[in-house]
Amino acid sequence: MPSFSKQASLALAFLFSANPSLAFFKVPCSTPLVIQRADPIVQPGTASNHVHTIMGGSGFGFTMDYDMTQASQCNSCSAVEDKSNYWVAALYFHAQNGSFIQVPQNGGALIYYEQRPDPTTDGKIVAPPAGFRMVAGTPFSRSDEVTIESSARSFACLNYDAPGTPQTNHFPKTKCPNGIRVQIYFPSCWDGKNLDSPDHKSHVAYPTQTYDNGPCPATHPVRIVSIFYEINWHTEQFDDMWYGDDQPFVFSFGDPTGHGLHADFLNGWDVDVLQEAIDTCDDGGGDIRECGPITMQPDSMTDGCMVEPSIDEKIDGWLDALPGCNPIQPGPEDAKVITGCGAPTTIGDPQHYYTDLTGQNWEWMGCTIDNAGGKRVLSGSMLKDGGMTPDMCTKKCEADGFSIAGLENALECYCGNDVAADSMPKTNPMGNCLMKCSGDAGQNCGGYGFIGLYKKCDGDCKNLQYPVVPH
Ligand SMILES: *[C@@H]1O[C@H](CO)[C@@H](O)[C@H](O)[C@H]1NC(C)=O
Repeated sequence: MPSFSKQASLALAFLFSANPSLAFFKVPCSTPLVIQRADPIVQPGTASNHVHTIMGGSGFGFTMDYDMTQASQCNSCSAVEDKSNYWVAALYFHAQNGSFIQVPQNGGALIYYEQRPDPTTDGKIVAPPAGFRMVAGTPFSRSDEVTIESSARSFACLNYDAPGTPQTNHFPKTKCPNGIRVQIYFPSCWDGKNLDSPDHKSHVAYPTQTYDNGPCPATHPVRIVSIFYEINWHTEQFDDMWYGDDQPFVFSFGDPTGHGLHADFLNGWDVDVLQEAIDTCDDGGGDIRECGPITMQPDSMTDGCMVEPSIDEKIDGWLDALPGCNPIQPGPEDAKVITGCGAPTTIGDPQHYYTDLTGQNWEWMGCTIDNAGGKRVLSGSMLKDGGMTPDMCTKKCEADGFSIAGLENALECYCGNDVAADSMPKTNPMGNCLMKCSGDAGQNCGGYGFIGLYKKCDGDCKNLQYPVVPH
């Protein structure tokens, strides 16, 4: 993830030059787990009002508790002991003709855990407990007013040739050569009792003098580790499509200002490990690999970790309107909740990333790494075809007398009769097998060095279901 190191070093230069003695560690999160209208904190059990991009443990669902985080089969963030979920609103480009399209995220997110003690206490910083959750910011805000809370959210207009461009509390108004970085800081003072609160905020508070440091208020005396998100967006891909006088990006909740930037944190850490990391990790550069209590997992695991979406609606490609009921509300007065626009409100069946071929007696086995050290998972026969689909591949393997078919690299099909134990699909690297088939862009045909496997099933056909998406 080369982009992370670059973005991180810029962030460090900005954030920590004033006080290099403060320690922190950052958890890199890879491509999102899922992008959909889900928000188990603010709107559990239903489709949420707007689209979020969600990172973290695959236990993520529409209703969440701590046990579900712990049941994650994979994790899009790189610390094994952290099965938390982190989410923010998706970003869209608003075209001149009124259509919208998602702005691609650059990586997933970078989550900073900063050890910033309350200077008026014994200095103890605690890990948030199991079941803890909180929200920072509000989607309704459109106001320029500067408060401690509003200062906790900011935007960086990225230009690697001229770092240090001043940050803003609204979307940058000019083109940013390397995209936009959205930044939000969570409250670090806790009431010490409640894991959540009706508004998901009042059990926590910002320090009294600035959003990211200094003493906690008496109402919220317990200092928790300071959590800060950075999410980069490839807004530069739309540079030649600007029009008019205003910047063309909107958050998924109809906010063209950026003041409604908000973020959600749902704790899924092994709390003892997080506490030990807070107490002992002191790398001045925030390098999580220097943080002994935390175990890292490879990119092939984080990149591949995905949850299947289950709201029956289109959220990507050109859209006539933002998903949900989200007309543009520029403010400066608070935005209103709009309902009744006809957008789906219920949770549907998971939309599978594989092709369901159980009707033809083939079932999905999973996605696994291929050609490691030159060794092929399947070596019976093969076919390369510009019209490849899972159906074409399983038919070929069947005709050749094989019982396992594997798709790779958009257009390759491999056949065989068994898969060695060490090549069997592991937890859930489905995200590594999402290359569009050369014969049908609506289906997936493996990836570079990753093979998507189907197996012949006679009568008793049951696609491998993972991860289980709890409702
Ligand atoms: C709107 O403009 C975009 C960008 O030019 C284009 O791709 C899209 O098809 C247009 N949508 C409609 C409905 O005309």
